[in-house]
Amino acid sequence: MKTASLWASLWVVQGLRSYQEGRQGCDYPDLLDASVTELEGGEVNVKYCGTSMTLVKTDAKPDAWSGVNWWLPQMQGKKLTKDELGAIQAHLGDYQYSMPVGMLGRGLVPTRPNKEWQWAFDDYGDSVKQVKSVLAFEVELGNALNKLPSATEELWRGAWLPVDLVEAVAAAKASGAPVRFPWFQSTTTDELHSYKFMHTKWQPSYCKPSCENRGLAYPVHFHIHSCKGKDMTKWNPKESEVILLPNLPFTVLDVKELVNDEVWEFTAPQMEAWLRETHLLPDWFTQKSTGSIDDPDAPRGPWPKLADKVKKGKWDGAKFIKWYEKKWSESTRLRLKMSRKEEQDLGYTLRSRFRLPSIFQLSGELTNDAYSFHQIELKDSEACE
Ligand SMILES: NC(=O)c1ccc[n+]([C@@H]2O[C@H](COP(=O)([O-])OP(=O)(O)OC[C@H]3O[C@@H](n4cnc5c(N)ncnc54)[C@H](O)[C@@H]3O)[C@@H](O)[C@H]2O)c1
Repeated sequence: MKTASLWASLWVVQGLRSYQEGRQGCDYPDLLDASVTELEGGEVNVKYCGTSMTLVKTDAKPDAWSGVNWWLPQMQGKKLTKDELGAIQAHLGDYQYSMPVGMLGRGLVPTRPNKEWQWAFDDYGDSVKQVKSVLAFEVELGNALNKLPSATEELWRGAWLPVDLVEAVAAAKASGAPVRFPWFQSTTTDELHSYKFMHTKWQPSYCKPSCENRGLAYPVHFHIHSCKGKDMTKWNPKESEVILLPNLPFTVLDVKELVNDEVWEFTAPQMEAWLRETHLLPDWFTQKSTGSIDDPDAPRGPWPKLADKVKKGKWDGAKFIKWYEKKWSESTRLRLKMSRKEEQDLGYTLRSRFRLPSIFQLSGELTNDAYSFHQIELKDSEACE
């Protein structure tokens, strides 16, 4: 962990330096002239703008493209070509484009997860051809996005980030240095939608299912104040998507770690008090929950008999939740003289007690059981153009 933190802070500083150097001479269309060669073990060397960099098979390298400038505001207002329009549509519509683009952006050789997986870029074992095709696609996408007007919006992004990157952002807040992400970032104007990408279901494959426990990656919620977003709602209305071009500089306004399940953390007196209070159900639950919820805005609780039981047993939050999940039954309800309505209200309130929303699928509700998450607030560090 210590080595990772050191590496991460180096990335923020070096990324900044190489970006500033890059700004003088390396704009993203130069990537079309990159010299790409295969190395032993499947790694790929890319020489671009006087930089030599190796794309790896595992362990992402967030600084791989930190020297490239992707922001060319002078292109705004120019007409999109058919191919550029096609690049937007392909990238938004399909993981077979966004996955290799996401991998390359993190310094990884784009690799199809398995032969059955739909894949937009021919590989046939030819990594050089693969990297060149993805780079060409990214340049097309960059052209398309740069031609669009940039919009001022409140943006939200949910993601799982390597722990050292989260630490680097926290270090940048302390030092006041800007942060840059050298890959295309999907964001949305729909805050609720952004939480979906922080679900434990979507934790990175390299550490799934125990990324948090092993301290390798954390769920992160970004709130970004920017005038540089490229509005994609016309092409992706369902997700109200806005894309941020790689390497835009942001000032870090805040980094906070929050516990996801506050009730689990309660002391015994807090647990008792919670059961003696009323609670409002959060919007994410009443709007999305499967099955209709009567009177969604009504307060739920209190449950005084249950509070008495918790008080007697001196149960803290963790003990109460374990008991409720394992032992609650019809006979418990009858013993505590609770109505079915009180029981249902308790169920709703406990199911929606998490700060991170569940995801709702055809198969049912999937609680996000992440232990905690980071909230990061960013704003543009450069003026709007
Ligand atoms: N994240 C959001 O808040 C958000 C908002 C609006 C729309 N979306 C939509 O959801 C899609 C996915 O968004 P996202 O934010 O998850 O994209 P992302 O850029 O974080 O990741 C895209 C893909 O890149 C690959 N990837 C990224 N990091 C990797 C790593 N370290 N190792 C290996 N592979 C890695 C993964 O296959 C991933 O599916 C987008 O294409 C967009 O249409 C997301």
